[in-house]
Formats: sequence, C-alpha cells, structure tokens
Amino acid sequence: MADKKAQLIIEGAAPIDLPVYSGTLGPDVVDVRGLTGEGYFTFDPGFMATSSCESKITYIDGDKGILLHRGYPIEQLAEKADFLETCYLLLNGELPTDAEKAEFVSTINNHTMVHEQLKNFFNGFRRDAHPMAIMCGVVGALSAFYHDSLDINDHKHRQISAIRLIAKMPTLAAMVYKYSLGQPLMYPRNDLSYSENFLHMMFNSPCEEKKVNPVLAKAMDRIFVLHADHEQNASTSTVRLTGSSGANPFACIAAGIAALWGPAHGGANEAVLNMLDEIGDVSNIEKYLAKAKDKNDPFKLMGFGHRVYKNFDPRAKVMKQTCDEVLAELGINDPQLELAMKLEEIARNDPYFKERNLYPNVDFYSGIILKAIGIPTSIFTVIFATGRTPGWIAHWNEMISGPYKIGRPRQLYTGPTQRDYPTNK
Ligand code: CMC
Repeated sequence: MADKKAQLIIEGAAPIDLPVYSGTLGPDVVDVRGLTGEGYFTFDPGFMATSSCESKITYIDGDKGILLHRGYPIEQLAEKADFLETCYLLLNGELPTDAEKAEFVSTINNHTMVHEQLKNFFNGFRRDAHPMAIMCGVVGALSAFYHDSLDINDHKHRQISAIRLIAKMPTLAAMVYKYSLGQPLMYPRNDLSYSENFLHMMFNSPCEEKKVNPVLAKAMDRIFVLHADHEQNASTSTVRLTGSSGANPFACIAAGIAALWGPAHGGANEAVLNMLDEIGDVSNIEKYLAKAKDKNDPFKLMGFGHRVYKNFDPRAKVMKQTCDEVLAELGINDPQLELAMKLEEIARNDPYFKERNLYPNVDFYSGIILKAIGIPTSIFTVIFATGRTPGWIAHWNEMISGPYKIGRPRQLYTGPTQRDYPTNK
C-alpha cells in the first residue's frame, strides 16, 4: 500500500502515477516498477539512488555517520556484544537470551571442522596463490560437501547452511594462511572463543601451542563485529543477486567473496598497507597527496572515502580506539604505522579531503591493527570476508524467506541498431 503518490511527467506523454513508500528510517522510495509497462526504464549506473530490495537488517545514515544493526548502534554492539552475539542478532532479528546465546555458540562449535577431503583442494593451488582466490574456490566447494542442506526452500536447510558457513570461515581462513607457509593445517579448538580459536589456528602449530593474547583476541573479535554487515554494499548485493537465481548458499557466499576482493571494497585494507609501502616515508606524503588530488592520476588514498558515509565512518571511530589499544599492548614501534598516523593527520586537515568529506574508513585502521597482530597483508580481505559472512547470509535468507524475483537489471542500449550480415563475407 503506497504512503504517497509521485507523478512523472515526460514531455509529450500523459503523466505517470508512481507509488511512494516510507520506511521506518531513511528516504522515501518511489516505486518505478510500473514504468516498464509505460515503455520506460530508469537509468542509475552504480545504483546511486536505487533501493534494490526492502530490508529489516541494517540501516545507515551516511550524512550523520550512523550504522544500526536491527536498530542497535554499531558502537554499542562493538562495546557490549561479541561477534557470535552479533551474528545471532543479524540472523534472527533480536539479541539472544543467555540460554539462546549458549545454544548458538555450542551449535557453531559443532561445525568448526571442515571435511577432511576439502584439504585436497588446497593442494591444487600454488603456495603463492592469493588467499582470496583460494577462499573463492574452497567456500564454493563447500556446496559439494553438504548436499544435505542445499534445499533453499527448506528453512532448516537454510539454518544449517548459515551455521556451517559462520563456523567454517575462520577454519578455512587459517588453512589458507598455513597453506601459504607450508605449515600443518591446524584443527579448531572448541574450548576457545570464536576469535581466540581463529588466532590459535593462525599462529599455533602442532609442536607449539601458545596462549592467545586476550587483548589481541578482543581486537580480532571487534574487527569481526565491525565488519558483520553493511546493508546493500557491492558484495551483499552480489550475494542477493546470485541467490535470486536459486543458487545454493555456499555458491552465493563464494560470489560475495569474489565481489569483496576488489580494492574499492574489501580489498582496500590490503591496498592501504601496499599504499603505505609505496609512500615509504613521511617525507613523501605531500607528493602522494598531490597524486591523490590529480584527476589525471589514477592514484587514490586507499582507506579514505566511502560511497555512503559522507561523515566519519562510525566503524572507523571504534576501530581507531582498538588500534590504539593494540599498539599500546604490543608496544609497537613500527615506522609504517607511524607513517599511517601521520598520513591520516595530514589528509584529514587537507582542504581537498575536507571539502569532499573524505574521512578514513574502517579499512584504514583495520589494516593497521591486523598488521600489528602479525597477520600478513594478503590475508586482510579474507578476515573481512569472515566478518561479513553473517551479514551476507542474513540478507540472502531475508530475500529467500520472502517473495522475490530473479534480479535482472535493464540497460540504456547505445550500440549499433539492427543491420544485416554482409553478403560478400
Ligand atoms: N582519494 C582521493 N580522492 C578521492 C578518494 C580517495 N580515496 N575517494 C574519493 N575521492 C574523490 C573523487 O575523486 C571525487 O572527486 P571529485 O568530486 O573532484 O570528482 C570525490 O572524492 C567523490 O568520490 P567518488 O569517486 O564519486 O565516490 P564514490 O562514492 O564513487 O567512491 C569509494 C567511494 C570508497 C569507492 C572511494 O572513496 C574510494 O575508492 N576510496 C578508496 C578505496 C577504499 O578505501 N575503499 C573502502 C571503502 S570502506 C570498506 C567497504 O565498505 O568496502
């Protein structure tokens, strides 16, 4: 039922009435679906003004720097909830009771191992393969192992696939790292928390098991919480679009991982560290800022700017605080981290960045924290993917649970008009 009505007037044609709907928060939307019947499409490359779906999961106000999951501000979740509680919230719509949380954690723990045969897939990859290339492959391959949960129309199947994906992502992420080193793959330990277990699988070996530093485990958990969902971004929209064809959840999440890999999206955390390598020294900052401002130079300041946030990214605020905690705990004195802090300070006071509302985003600080924890740059985006998995699944599940249509955008065609194949060819 429309809340209001809009009228589209196109020269030479009768006015077209379009329904307008209001959400609980955010701008009203004009329902343009009826335009096709009138002989028109809308044109919105990059989906700057297009709501691709109705959703109850996450709300962002980019101008005010607000991010809510199921209504709860991200700052409060980062402070009070852990990652698995956030997963529960995203998947189920409400925070769990203590009993529900305990049951959820125990169910996740029951699924942390991957099928032994999945290890064979790793051997097919070069040791120097990019970890995201391996992740796309092995997460997609999960669909070949769990035939018992691939019926997307069965609520129970969707639930168990969600659990399997959230439980196995850290195991796979750590396996990717260990494979790159040529070290034995570590089994998960279910007596540890989600983030402790991840760091255990990353940094311990069968011949030496050290206790995971709780400050680093907390920082890791926070990174997962801060990445858990972000509304209809490129990878989530990819998951929805892939899922709209009826593809299985493992295939959909593999597609999301591929979309996340790009440097304009999740690949930015890795790109930040590569950029810092390129800048090299504080004395080069001005030169690189000039390059970032030069329209003829493709160089961009990685970790700055956001499609939606035109104010400080609320996740970046929490991430900066965590960054300070981790650097203090580890007593790190790394010239590259000093360079990052100086770059941040100079760019934030530069008129070009101020006028365009280009603030450091979540990836700027997460890259620095991950480096300090000892995680290699090439694994950064894999960690983003692990954190984003509950969001991807929540959106996929929301779509499949309601009435949906296969995603099929149209186009403004500007190619040749119909012509005949040459007779002399
Ligand atoms: N460095 C220099 N200039 C920039 C940057 C940057 N990082 N980002 C935007 N601009 C300029 C851009 O050139 C344009 O200038 P003008 O108005 O003079 O033409 C203006 O700012 C607006 O930028 P835009 O390209 O229209 O913004 P967008 O919404 O299309 O792009 C973005 C958003 C995130 C792709 C872009 O800011 C960017 O490439 N940033 C660096 C990559 C990055 O850090 N990505 C991670 C995003 S956060 C994690 C996630 O959610 O995935």
